[in-house]
Amino acid sequence: MTRISAEIGKSPKKHQHIEYSQRSLFSPICFYSPKLPIFILVTCVTLFILLNIRFSLQTPPSFPTFSLPWTLMSQWQNAIFNSTITSTNYANELNSAYLYKLHQSVTFLPLKDLRYAHAALNGHTWFMSSMYDTHQEGDVHFQQFPSQSSQGRLLCLKGKDTHDGSWNSYALAWPEALPHNATFMKGLTFVSYNHYNYENLWHGLSAMVPFVAWHKNNNCSLPTRWVLYHWGELRFKMGLWVKTMMEATFGGPLNIEGFDEIDENMPACFEKAVVMRHNEGGMSRERRMEVYDLLRCNARIYCNVSLKDRSNEIGMTLFMRTGPRSFKNETIVTEIFYKECAKVEGCRLMVAHSNNLSFCEQVKCLLI
Ligand SMILES: *[C@@H]1O[C@H](CO)[C@@H](O)[C@H](O)[C@H]1NC(C)=O
Ligand SMILES: *[C@@H]1O[C@H](CO)[C@@H](O)[C@H](O)[C@H]1NC(C)=O
Ligand SMILES: *[C@@H]1O[C@H](CO)[C@@H](O)[C@H](O)[C@H]1NC(C)=O
Ligand SMILES: *[C@@H]1O[C@H](CO)[C@@H](O)[C@H](O)[C@H]1NC(C)=O
Ligand SMILES: *[C@@H]1O[C@H](CO)[C@@H](O)[C@H](O)[C@H]1NC(C)=O
Ligand SMILES: *[C@@H]1O[C@H](CO)[C@@H](O)[C@H](O)[C@H]1NC(C)=O
Repeated sequence: MTRISAEIGKSPKKHQHIEYSQRSLFSPICFYSPKLPIFILVTCVTLFILLNIRFSLQTPPSFPTFSLPWTLMSQWQNAIFNSTITSTNYANELNSAYLYKLHQSVTFLPLKDLRYAHAALNGHTWFMSSMYDTHQEGDVHFQQFPSQSSQGRLLCLKGKDTHDGSWNSYALAWPEALPHNATFMKGLTFVSYNHYNYENLWHGLSAMVPFVAWHKNNNCSLPTRWVLYHWGELRFKMGLWVKTMMEATFGGPLNIEGFDEIDENMPACFEKAVVMRHNEGGMSRERRMEVYDLLRCNARIYCNVSLKDRSNEIGMTLFMRTGPRSFKNETIVTEIFYKECAKVEGCRLMVAHSNNLSFCEQVKCLLI
C-alpha cells in the first residue's frame, strides 16, 4: 500500500518529464530542420520511447496523464500494461490502500462538547455538536445514519462512560471502512439524549415522543436497541412508567444497550441509527396530538382496555402527587373541582394518587 501511494506521489514529476520530451519531439529540431542529421531524429524518437516505456511501467493505468496521437505508442503501452499489472488487480490494490486510509481517518469527537455548555440545548446542542438535525416544518428534529446528509456513513460510538459525557465519543464511518476493532450492531438503534432524566414521567416521556413520531413517519420501524444518554453519560434504565409506555408502543420489551460485550474504548457502529436530542422541540401541536393519540391507543391495547362511547360525557381525573409539589390540602382542592364539575352536565370527576397505581390502573382510571 505504501508502495502505491509513493508512486502516486511521484507521478506528477514524471509527467513533467514527458511533457518536456513531447515538446522536443514536435519541436522544429526534430521535424522541420532537414539539415539535421537523421540520427538526431532517431535519438529523439528513441528517447521518447524509452521515457514512455519507463512511464508506462511505473504509472498506474487509471492515471492517464498524457495522450498522443501515436497508435504505435499506445499499443506498446497496452502491451506493457497487459504484461505487468492488470487493471482489476490495480483497482483492488488502490481500493485497499484507499480503505486503509479511510479506516485511519475515522475521527472520534467528544459526545458532550464542553465548548457549548452555555447553550447545551440550543441548535446543534452540546451533544454530538458537529452534527445538524434534519427537520421538516412542524415535525420532529432528528438525525439518521446512514443518510444522504451523512454521505452514507454510519454512526459509531465509544460511549460506555456513565460519569462524564466528554469521555464518550462519536464518529461517522463508511460501512466498508469502519474503525479498527469496531463491533457492528445490526438493526435499528435509537440513540436518545435527555437533559433531565428517564425516571420522571414528563421528562422521560418527552424524550421518547420524538422516537414515536419518527416510528410513525417511518413505516412503524421497530428499534432493535436503545442507547440512552444523559449529558452524554450512558444510562441503563428508564422509570417503570416510561418503560411500560414504550413497551406498549413498540410492542415488546425494550433492549437498552449497555455495551457489555464491548471493551472500554472500543467502538460500536450501528447499521442504522436515529438520534434525538430535542425532545418534542420543533413538533407542531397537531403532530404532538397525533403522537399522544397513538400512545393512548397503544396503552389501551396493552392494558386490554376498550374505549366505550362517551361522546356525551366529560371525564375529569385529578391526579394527586406526593412530596413538595403536592397540594397542601387535597380535600379543599378536590371540593373545588367537584363543585365546578357539578355545574356541567355529564361531568364526572375522579381523584387518584398516581404514585401507588400501576400503569394499567392509571390507563383504566382515565376511562371510568
Ligand atoms: C490488453 O488486455 C485486454 C483484456 O485482456 C484486451 O482487451 C486488450 O486488447 C489488451 N491490449 C493489448 C494491447 O493487447
Ligand atoms: C484491536 O484489538 C486488539 C486485541 O484486543 C488490540 O491488540 C489492538 O491494539 C486493537 N487495535 C486498536 C486500533 O485499538
Ligand atoms: C414499508 O413496509 C413495507 C412492508 O414491510 C415495505 O414493502 C415498504 O417498502 C416499506 N416502505 C418504506 C418507505 O420503508
Ligand atoms: C391482556 O390480555 C392478554 C390476553 O387476553 C393477556 O395475555 C395479557 O396479560 C393482558 N394484559 C394485561 C396488562 O392485563
Ligand atoms: C384541609 O381543609 C379542611 C377544610 O378547611 C380542614 O377541615 C382540614 O383539617 C384541612 N386538612 C389539613 C391536612 O390541613
Ligand atoms: C395511595 O396513596 C395515597 C397517598 O399517598 C393514599 O392516601 C391512598 O390511600 C393510597 N391508595 C392505595 C390504594 O394504596
